[in-house]
Amino acid sequence: MSKILINGGRKISGEITVQGAKNSVLPILAATFLIKGECIIHNCPELSDVSVCLKILSRLGCDCLKENNTVIVDAKEPSDYKIPEELMREMRSSVVFLGAILGRCQKAVISSPGGCELGPRPIDLHLLSLEKLGVKIKEEHGFLYCEAPNGIKGAEITLSFPSVGATENIILATAISKGITVIHNAAKEPEISNLADFLNSAGAKIYGAGSDTVVIHGVSLLRATEQTVIPDRIVAATYMAAATVTGGELVLKSVMPSHMLSILSAFEQSGCDIIANGKSLKIKSPKQITRVSSIKSLAYPGFPTDAGPIIISMLTKADGISVFVENIFENRYRYIDELNRLGAKIKTEGKVAVIEGVQKLTGAYCKCTDLRGGAALVIGGLSADGITVIDEIHHINRGYEDIVGCFKQLNADITIKE
Ligand code: UD1
Repeated sequence: MSKILINGGRKISGEITVQGAKNSVLPILAATFLIKGECIIHNCPELSDVSVCLKILSRLGCDCLKENNTVIVDAKEPSDYKIPEELMREMRSSVVFLGAILGRCQKAVISSPGGCELGPRPIDLHLLSLEKLGVKIKEEHGFLYCEAPNGIKGAEITLSFPSVGATENIILATAISKGITVIHNAAKEPEISNLADFLNSAGAKIYGAGSDTVVIHGVSLLRATEQTVIPDRIVAATYMAAATVTGGELVLKSVMPSHMLSILSAFEQSGCDIIANGKSLKIKSPKQITRVSSIKSLAYPGFPTDAGPIIISMLTKADGISVFVENIFENRYRYIDELNRLGAKIKTEGKVAVIEGVQKLTGAYCKCTDLRGGAALVIGGLSADGITVIDEIHHINRGYEDIVGCFKQLNADITIKE
C-alpha cells in the first residue's frame, strides 16, 4: 500500500492553480445521465471518486471519455437503472445518482449507502422528497427499489435541514418532469449553483439555485452542453493552511474568493494577510498564528464542515487555546488521535474540539481515517520536525489531485513510497 513520506519543516510557498471541486463534479457527472448527446465537462479533477462515477455511468450504458481534465459523457440510450453494490460501496456520494436515474428512467435500484467514515449519513430527506415527487420506494435486503409509475411530478418540498445531497437529488429528479417543484430551505452551497448552471445550459428551467428557495419548472428534454467545474474551496483552504502553519507565502490561482468568505475570515482571525484579486488569492502567514476562540461548522455560507480538520491542523501551532464546534457530522474527529501522534494537543468531547497550541510538532507514523482528516495529517506532517509517514492514503486520493506533486511544487520535501 502506498504511503506519503514527508520530511517536514520547509516553508510552503509559491504559486498553485487550484483543481476543480470534487463536490461539484460528482453531481454534474450524475446529471449527464439525463442528457442524450455529448456533454463536455471541463476542469474535472483527477480523483478516484471521479473514476468511480465514470464506471457507474459506463455500467448504466453511457459512453465516457476522459482526456486530462476534460470528460465527455453521452448518455445516449441507458442500458440499466441499477448501480452495482460494489460501486455504491466505493463512493458514498453515489446516492446522487438516484435522482438522475429516476429522472431519466423513472425507476432506479441502489444499495443502501449505510454509514461512512464520518458516522451515520442518513438519506431519509432524499427519500421523503422523492416520495413527494411521486416515487414509490421499497427497501429490501439492503437495496432500495424506487419507481415513479406515473412519472416524476412537481411538488412543494420543505427540507427540515438544508441537505446538500437532498437538494441535488431533487433538482436531478425534477429537471425533466411534469409540473413545478419548489424546494424550501434548500442548500445554498456554490456546488448547487454549478449543477443548476449546467442543467440550465442544457435547457432546464431551474431558478434560485444558491438561495434557500429553488424552483424547478420541469422540461421534457435536455440537450448536450458544456460546463466548467468550479474551483475546490476546500483544496484551496488546504494549501492556505499548509502555508500558514509553515510560515510561508502563497498565491492561489483559479479560486473563487466569494465562495470562501467564512474560510478567509478564519485565516484572517489567525493573523494571515489575505489579498483577493479576481480569481486569485495571496496569503502571507503571520510570525505566530493567533488562536481562534470559536469556529463552528454550519451550512453554507457558514464555515464548511470539510474545512474543519484543515483549520484544526493549522491551529495546533497557535499561541493559545482554540475551539472548534462540528455541527454537521457526528463522528468527524477520528483523525484527531492521529494528529496527536505528531505532538498536537487536541481534546474532543462530542461536537467540540479544544486545540491547545504547541511550539512544535514532531514527525511520526499515522494513518488517514477519512479524506479531510488525511489532509489534516499532511498539513501536520509538513509543519512537523523530522519524518512523517502517512498510511491509508487512498482516502486522500478521493479528493485531492496529485497532492504530493502539488506540495512538491510548493517547496515541500514530500514523496510517495510504494
Ligand atoms: C455535506 C456538507 C457539504 C459537503 C459534503 C461533502 C453541509 C450542510 N453539507 O454534504 O457542504 O460538501 O458533506 O463532505 O455542510 N442529513 C439527514 N438526512 C438526510 C441527509 C442529510 O439527516 O437525508 C443530515 C446529515 O446526517 C448531516 C446533515 O444533514 O448531519 C448534512 O447532510 P448533507 O448536507 O446532506 O450532507 P452532504 O450532502 O453529504
